[in-house]
Amino acid sequence: MQIFLDTANIDQIKQAHELGIISGVTTNPSLLSKEATADYESVTRKICAIVSGPVSVEVLSEDAAAMIAEARVKASWAPNVNIKIPITAEGLKATRVLSAENIKVNMTLCFSPNQALLGALAGATYVSIFIGRLDDAGHDGMQVVEDIIGILDNYPELDTRVIAASIRNPLHFTYSAMAGADIATVPYNVLMQMIQHPLTDIGIKRFLADWKSVAKK
Ligand code: E4P
Repeated sequence: MQIFLDTANIDQIKQAHELGIISGVTTNPSLLSKEATADYESVTRKICAIVSGPVSVEVLSEDAAAMIAEARVKASWAPNVNIKIPITAEGLKATRVLSAENIKVNMTLCFSPNQALLGALAGATYVSIFIGRLDDAGHDGMQVVEDIIGILDNYPELDTRVIAASIRNPLHFTYSAMAGADIATVPYNVLMQMIQHPLTDIGIKRFLADWKSVAKK
């Protein structure tokens, strides 16, 4: 399993990258809008200079021809740029064309096994399943991830990787790993929560206290 960081924040990306456990980054227009600049290109170039793995950048166009043109420009920003395309009829058409050009597509906003399977059939390198948003809408996001992994396992000729996305808490990450998701893309705060455990903090304090008490004798 790999971890991607789900943010467009450069400081968070630098800090997470230093941990040595991040394999890529996913952004989206909402994440970018939280940053000081709306300059998608300069932010993407900065991220790609920090992280050598895949960096997903989303298209804003809605028809296939415009998505393709936009994707080609964005893919030229850095060799590790992947293009996020929403799962729509137009998105599927664009994915087929871009995949044939070796531009890697992350088919995004997938909420059902059928959507993910269609993305895989169109040649997407990744399908992103939005667990948190499914949970918010009263569905079982983890079950959808499990179903998609099971379906793709039936068809090994489909070389599409499953990204567990819209992760809101450490349990989403754990269950994604148990389900066999190829990647989980996690926000920085969830990554920090995953590192911590109160018993680790207590253990460190106790070890240091014991060591100091012996050192005094
Ligand atoms: C995935 O690539 C998306 O950027 C992200 O996981 C969406 O998460 P949200 O539902 O918390 O906005």
